[in-house]
Amino acid sequence: MSDVRFDGRVALVTGSGGGLGRAYAKLLASRGAKVVVNDLGGSVDGTGSGTRMAEQVVNEIKEAGGEAVPDFNGVDTYEGGAKMVQTALDAYGKLDIVIHNAGILRDKSFKNMTEEDFDKVLTVHLKGAFNVMKHAFPVMRDNGFGRVVFATSAAGLFGNFGQVNYSSAKMGLVGFMNSLAIEGKKYDVKVNCIAPGAASRMTENLMPPELLEKMKPEYVAPAVAYMASEECAFTGTVISAAGGVFSRVAIMENEGVLLDPAQGITIERFRENLDRITDMSGAEVAEGMGRSMAQLMSLMSH
Ligand code: NAI
Repeated sequence: MSDVRFDGRVALVTGSGGGLGRAYAKLLASRGAKVVVNDLGGSVDGTGSGTRMAEQVVNEIKEAGGEAVPDFNGVDTYEGGAKMVQTALDAYGKLDIVIHNAGILRDKSFKNMTEEDFDKVLTVHLKGAFNVMKHAFPVMRDNGFGRVVFATSAAGLFGNFGQVNYSSAKMGLVGFMNSLAIEGKKYDVKVNCIAPGAASRMTENLMPPELLEKMKPEYVAPAVAYMASEECAFTGTVISAAGGVFSRVAIMENEGVLLDPAQGITIERFRENLDRITDMSGAEVAEGMGRSMAQLMSLMSH
């Protein structure tokens, strides 16, 4: 089998001045992609800006013989999204791949979380995807090709104490992916998510050092790069990657229970059927509008 290559492809990796994004940018560049290394250069909580982290990563890529340009705009504004897409177009004339990886943390118990903590986290992660994709998607559509990877998180997929803001943003990205994947289908624009786990400045105080040692960003990057490649045939999929463990996370639905309106659709009948309604033993990955909607549609066509 041949190597997976990105020759002639142009990639924008948001928040790639350090951590996971840096590993993504470097792997793509090492396989022939021209990369826009975007990073606002702020702190983990989203305050400050201007550290030229992106430039450092560009230097590392160039030293290794790759091609890259830095971009210092923030994903948190619409103009920032427009400008970073323009950086790609100005430097390389097109844009094939977007990895929206930029992120911040404002962890607090819900009781202590302020409106600003909530808004700021949603603005960078979720609105950030909108700000970038509003400008990148038309370019991909016109070219009849695009690969998009959003960074989601176990915190959103499964929940985590102190992360109501972050979990909402990260699960929001799964919804964003689900719908954009459908809209992108006929233009060969594939949209997927990575749920990573890796040592970075974001996680250095959250996990024990022995664990962090085993969780190198470079162990996550191959999954992201594959989803950014021409070879990737799937769309609307969440891949989890941490420390060399790779898996798929999906939303499942069971076959459902049809209650006959003739017998009354009541609270009590819902209660009587609760075990069957919540039994996930026959559950399958939900496709399209989901299984219960499919059942309803088939009912209507009879
Ligand atoms: P990191 O803090 O090293 O990387 C995030 C980067 O985004 C930073 O370099 C930061 O400067 C940049 N950034 C922040 N706000 C920005 C903005 N408005 N515009 C442009 N760039 C901005 O953290 P890490 O761990 O590498 O995280 C990367 C992504 O992966 C994030 O979206 C994070 O939520 C996600 N993630 C990470 C996990 C982990 O175990 N490290 C777990 C689950 C998700």
